[in-house]
Amino acid sequence: MKEKIIIFDTTLRDGEQSPGASLNIYEKIEIAHQLAKLNVDVIEAGFPVSSPAQFDAVHAISSEVDKIIAGLCRANEKDIDSAFKALQPAKHKRIHTFTSTSDFHILGKFGHEKYGVSLEDKRKTILKMTSDSVAYAKSLCEDVEYSAEDAGRTDIGYLAEVIEAAIEAGANVVNIPDTTGYTFPTEFGNKIKELKRRVKNIDKAVISVHCHNDLGLAVANSIASIENGARQIECTVNGIGERAGNASLEEIVMALKVRGDIVNFDTDINTREIYNTSRLVSGFTGILVQRNKAIVGENAFAHESGIHQDGMLKNRDTYEIMTPELVGYPNTKIILGRHSGRHGLKARLNQLGYEVSEEKLIKLYEKFTKLADKKKEVFDNDLRILMGDTITEKDEFYSLDHLQITSGSKTIPTAVVKIKIEDQIIQESAIGDGPIDAVFNAIERALSIHPEVESYNVRSVTSGRQALGEVLLRIRSNSISFTGRGVSTDVIEASALAYLSALNKKNAHFKLNEKFNKENELTKVG
Ligand code: KIV
Ligand code: ZN
Repeated sequence: MKEKIIIFDTTLRDGEQSPGASLNIYEKIEIAHQLAKLNVDVIEAGFPVSSPAQFDAVHAISSEVDKIIAGLCRANEKDIDSAFKALQPAKHKRIHTFTSTSDFHILGKFGHEKYGVSLEDKRKTILKMTSDSVAYAKSLCEDVEYSAEDAGRTDIGYLAEVIEAAIEAGANVVNIPDTTGYTFPTEFGNKIKELKRRVKNIDKAVISVHCHNDLGLAVANSIASIENGARQIECTVNGIGERAGNASLEEIVMALKVRGDIVNFDTDINTREIYNTSRLVSGFTGILVQRNKAIVGENAFAHESGIHQDGMLKNRDTYEIMTPELVGYPNTKIILGRHSGRHGLKARLNQLGYEVSEEKLIKLYEKFTKLADKKKEVFDNDLRILMGDTITEKDEFYSLDHLQITSGSKTIPTAVVKIKIEDQIIQESAIGDGPIDAVFNAIERALSIHPEVESYNVRSVTSGRQALGEVLLRIRSNSISFTGRGVSTDVIEASALAYLSALNKKNAHFKLNEKFNKENELTKVG
């Protein structure tokens, strides 16, 4: 019997902090449902106090998904109250609070004299903040996790003291993050071993680790921690997260499974949902999975050289340490076409991990037939894109009604756009340095806006001559960035759709903020 490792997924919190990733509430809910299907143990759904959008997402996921739902908060009552309020509907709620423990963080973030003059005094202040915040969280919620931020670079004596105080105050999970991805596997493993030796109440809590990937060691460090006593792993799908990301969920899970001959640990993850989850997260966040990424990359199960192919045909064990089926890697490429019916579409979507209501299916089928008219073969990735689009549409305020482009080697690129806003259609035209610039200028004229376009990327997401082109872009308005995504067989149309999708996210964001401010105003008056 293998010992269970708890999988704490932080794709929706640390993962969403990846540069360039921003998810709307519908995308977050869809990912949370998929994480439940994947059977993770804990879903960290967000950082509720940080914005109204984060609060709403944690609240919505808490009411819809039957898993342990965690909300992150700093070590103060306002943050903890906000997390607890957002988690209210959850059957199993966890408050996750943290303080900084390394000298780098203490001196860098708590430099003000009010925290103490000497390092020694500041350390005492942090110790007290830790006990007080954990005790306060425990007074509200049975399940409390404490994290010692930058534990990887924290002096072991002080770290042991803080961890002991957190457990004493009621933490049932203590998390040891390698926040800056600085440590080596043996070093980090020894840190966990040493904590087990020094912290006298350590058996009253589960030891968790949260490793970042700055040196590409996050997975190795997580495995070394398990070998030394950690029983919860914090990780993200595709390894996304701050800077170089977090430990990748799929790599840790599969390492434990494939090397079951040398490790006595396993997880409850439904590994056949790994590939679907990876695609869903990549599609919604716009963060591409590198081709050679372990477990979920395009090349993870491809055998190129003749020698390898010959070996595989004779016996798969020659070059394959796990089967693609085990991680849900699709074994069919072409699946549907213009003659496929609604039932066929639904069945394939279900196989890809999507639940679709009849109402949603009607809308999807309409889009599917339009796409199948343009493309002879509709691939799994096309369907994932269609699914992503219908989810994003829920935030739709502006939509593209019509687009016309004139462009060529000796013509001034000109665009005409008609944009639908509720029942109104606005038409404008503009010229530009190229057709895409002309489209953006026409949209800006129509809506009288001028956000900065921070980044623009176009790529092909499916194969063949009629491949779908995907445009990912980021705009900046009022110092906030919004990502937009558009997909079409025509990359200029995809660009217009991406621009409008970023504007829709911006619109939803400001509407939500307005509502939140109004509600706060009412509370103050009342
Ligand atoms: O990296 C980190 O230290 C974190 C904590 C808040 C857990 O994300
Ligand atoms: Zn982190």
